[in-house]
Amino acid sequence: MKKILVIHGPNLNLLGEREPSVYGKVTLENINKKMKIRAKSKNVKLEIIQSNHEGEIVDIIGKAHNNFNVIIINPAAYTHTSVAIRDAISASGIATIEVHLSNIYSREDFRHTSLIAPVSKGQISGFGEYSYILALEAALKLLD
Ligand code: DQA
Repeated sequence: MKKILVIHGPNLNLLGEREPSVYGKVTLENINKKMKIRAKSKNVKLEIIQSNHEGEIVDIIGKAHNNFNVIIINPAAYTHTSVAIRDAISASGIATIEVHLSNIYSREDFRHTSLIAPVSKGQISGFGEYSYILALEAALKLLD
């Protein structure tokens, strides 16, 4: 069975209550549920984690080698700062899709740079919870 690893970065556990005008009112649990239903319908296994800790995310990506076919990651604030997560993705050799709920290019200047994008297969940004569904569809396409 093909496997996709979904990683939610810092503060995404707060979705639903965190700045709803930017990130919407949907909870992470709800997003995960929708992704799982879609993955199951395609006979693909999803493993989903959320972490507020850079080192933990690096460890998880480091162990993904040989275990997962695709990574979907919303690195959240680490998108703009983490060379360590970028290097972990690069070292893993696993096709990675970067996701953002908000359009990072229409927000503050510091969000316009993604250290993750150059080591990703592609990036989806700006479609709210639907960004994750689009990312999952892209991942399923990569698995075909
Ligand atoms: C985010 C965008 C980041 O700039 C921000 O730090 C987040 C969420 C998004 O999904 O829109 O925490 O990754």
